[in-house]
Amino acid sequence: MTQQRIGIWIIGAWGGVATTAAVGLSALKQGLTGTSGLVSENPYFEKLNLKNWDQFVVGGHEIRDTSFVEAARYFSENSGVFHPALLQAVEEDLKAYDQNVKPGTLIHVGDTIRSLAGDAVRKFDTESLQETLTRLTNDISEFQKQHDLAHVVVVNLASTEPPVEESAKSLSLAELKESLASAVTSPVPASTLYAIAAMNAGCSHLNFTPSAGTDLPALIELAEEKQVLHAGRDGKTGETLMKSVLAPMFAHRNLNVMSWVGHNIFGNLDGKVLDDPVNKSNKVVSKDHLLTEILGYKPQTLVSIEYIESMGDWKTAWDHIHFKGFLDTKMALQFTWQGTDSILAAPLMLDMVRFTEREWRRGNKSGIMTHLSSFYKSPMQATTPEFERQYQQLEQWADTVSEES
Ligand SMILES: NC(=O)c1ccc[n+]([C@@H]2O[C@H](COP(=O)([O-])OP(=O)(O)OC[C@H]3O[C@@H](n4cnc5c(N)ncnc54)[C@H](O)[C@@H]3O)[C@@H](O)[C@H]2O)c1
Repeated sequence: MTQQRIGIWIIGAWGGVATTAAVGLSALKQGLTGTSGLVSENPYFEKLNLKNWDQFVVGGHEIRDTSFVEAARYFSENSGVFHPALLQAVEEDLKAYDQNVKPGTLIHVGDTIRSLAGDAVRKFDTESLQETLTRLTNDISEFQKQHDLAHVVVVNLASTEPPVEESAKSLSLAELKESLASAVTSPVPASTLYAIAAMNAGCSHLNFTPSAGTDLPALIELAEEKQVLHAGRDGKTGETLMKSVLAPMFAHRNLNVMSWVGHNIFGNLDGKVLDDPVNKSNKVVSKDHLLTEILGYKPQTLVSIEYIESMGDWKTAWDHIHFKGFLDTKMALQFTWQGTDSILAAPLMLDMVRFTEREWRRGNKSGIMTHLSSFYKSPMQATTPEFERQYQQLEQWADTVSEES
């Protein structure tokens, strides 16, 4: 019997994280790499009977005119992350994935993201909103049909949009449907339109970015109506991961955090988009809310994100935590995190796809997957902001799933 295959449909398919995931998937499939960085390869999850790496097929939507092959070469040369021999070994798979990438949409993405757009997507500038939604939905459905996929998980890995308009936050599902039907004026951004297309096509949806995606009341309702699984927002890969591990320590030892300053510098395309203050504000909010939630009070905080071109995909985060101990004595902890953004993020995206497929296969087909909270900076409907507790929820979910089977 042929094993059922699963689709990964990536919004922002030729970006850094997406390209790294595509290279990684091909390398894993061919047994060319180890599994470090992959949570789903932790021995605890063996009992889940997750899909093998060779059972996944990649496709997606993009707005730039490039390819997986070109993007991977650029990454290799600019950031030194993939060995040329590895690139050669994965090239055939990347070329096959390239065939599955279609032009996306520029609706409500803001000027900075629009400036990245190539000719292929600009062709659709005159399309109506309904036509766009139908086209995006059909692209995903055709991908599923063409590759005979049992299920497709749509993952948003596109550039961070400006914050969503206030009017979108209060839309009911009925109002959303009305605005989409009447449509020159719907306030929802591209990330949400892609999520609607995913739900219309019956796919699960994961939002690795700070953009709105499914994190709107109307979309939470739509997911229930369409019976689809979803989770978001904003992958927790570096500095914020450290915060969600360290802040509980300060809280549990009753060490009063007076201030927490985090400076981040990096030079990839994501950094370039976040150099726009409007797009950046979305990310800063996502990185900043956590401390108050964990500590129970708000220390003075500063989060800076600066685009330094020479760094490429390498990110340095320097954090200074000023805290007070016994007899009101002031002390400090500093750490420096130096990581490759896409190498940290890509395996987490692959993990979440595997866990999502398992939840779907289990027969649990709708709602927010709160057991994926440990993967996100701003997890939707999370019951705890602490990393360790969130990770325990993932293990508890795995226990439940394996007991059922
Ligand atoms: N460690 C990490 O890298 C990390 C951690 C958390 C969150 N994220 C988020 O993940 C996303 C991807 O990060 P990246 O480093 O790969 O960024 P990137 O800039 O390299 O890739 C983004 C891709 O999205 C494409 N794109 C932009 N708007 C689009 C649209 N409307 N439709 C389709 N494609 C579109 C761009 O052309 C680009 O190829 C960003 O939003 C980033 O903030 C990344």
